Amino acid sequence: MAQVTLNNVRKVYPSGFEAVKGLSLDISDGEFLVLVGPSGCGKSTTLRLVAGLEELSSGTISIGGRVVNDVHPKDRDIAMVFQNYALYPHMSVYKNMAFALKLRGVPKADIDRRVGGAARTLGIEDLLDRKPRQLSGGQRQRVAVGRAIVREPKAFLFDEPLSNLDAKLRVTTRAELKALHMRLKTTTIYVTHDQEEAMTLGDRIVVMSKGLIQQAGTPLEVYRRPLNRFVAGFVGMPPMNFLEGTIAQDGGALWFVEGSADADGRAYRVRLPGARSQALATHAGKPIVMGLRPQMLREVTAPTPSAWRLPVRVVEPLGDAMDVSCSTPKHAHLVARVPAHSGLTGGQTALFEPDADAAHFFEPGEFGVSLADPS
Ligand SMILES: Nc1ncnc2c1ncn2[C@@H]1O[C@H](COP(=O)(O)OP(=O)(O)O)[C@@H](O)[C@H]1O
Ligand SMILES: [Mg+2]
Repeated sequence: MAQVTLNNVRKVYPSGFEAVKGLSLDISDGEFLVLVGPSGCGKSTTLRLVAGLEELSSGTISIGGRVVNDVHPKDRDIAMVFQNYALYPHMSVYKNMAFALKLRGVPKADIDRRVGGAARTLGIEDLLDRKPRQLSGGQRQRVAVGRAIVREPKAFLFDEPLSNLDAKLRVTTRAELKALHMRLKTTTIYVTHDQEEAMTLGDRIVVMSKGLIQQAGTPLEVYRRPLNRFVAGFVGMPPMNFLEGTIAQDGGALWFVEGSADADGRAYRVRLPGARSQALATHAGKPIVMGLRPQMLREVTAPTPSAWRLPVRVVEPLGDAMDVSCSTPKHAHLVARVPAHSGLTGGQTALFEPDADAAHFFEPGEFGVSLADPS
């Protein structure tokens, strides 16, 4: 086991494209760290740099306190699991799992013990004689993990290892990986584009965009206190609604004013709670973005002074809840998650109350910084 440290790591590909732009990160011994971000943000590149499959353009990477910039991948003592598993098709499961150990000259008895132990841990003892083509996707995935476990590495690197599984298997395998980590406690860096996978697996998640870290923290920290609009929109399902507007003073209170009005001419606006208005007062008169999670746009049955009347476009039943897609003249796509028993249908209008206490506020722009966290 080992600590993994990235210090100002940069990667410029020969094409001149800078895929990783100065990334610093400390992964503690035994930690399960998830790198998450949209496709192309530099996750795989970062992982491949740690594995030694790509050369650094600048910066340092250390594993267990030793700088490994010039250490060959096979001498870094880490094991990587890829999305496509990369099993040897002509070898049995046993041989696939034993291969790296054999190359290293590990004695046969030791190999047997380690492969047997990993196979038991993963529930694949009965498959040891099969070839990869005789396995289901889920079984192949286990073999790929088994091949990493037998090496007893200092760290595991996973690059989207669940992407090739169907939705149900992905969820169960995800739980198994978490259980496995709780047992082995091996330092793990796990890459995914799926925010839900990141939230459920990580001790800590690192949200990346365009080769940069946008935020690092526990899943709940990142969900509750996103540092900028990008992170706020990336973490959480359905994604946070963003409403562009201004902060205005009216009747001794501060309001977020969206800028359009309903069919009766009532402006869409939200009175800011006292605790937040102090932080936001300096932004009065300036453009600002309010972030509101769909769970915080609640349907109300009777009109209240703060309720918004919104036309409903479509309703998506989810079983235990419904996602209601609605709009204002200014914002064509707002989502409210409401209880399943709500009788809403597309084509009607309905009343929704935005929860001002739970709203986030950001400076304008894709990466606009958070101005005042909800308490
Ligand atoms: N060998 C390469 N040469 C040039 N550009 C590359 C190479 N590999 C990846 N890239 C580019 O670097 C960026 C990051 O890629 P990658 O790390 O694979 O992203 P992710 O895993 O987050 O989807 C992408 O824009 C990708 O097109
Ligand atoms: Mg990738």
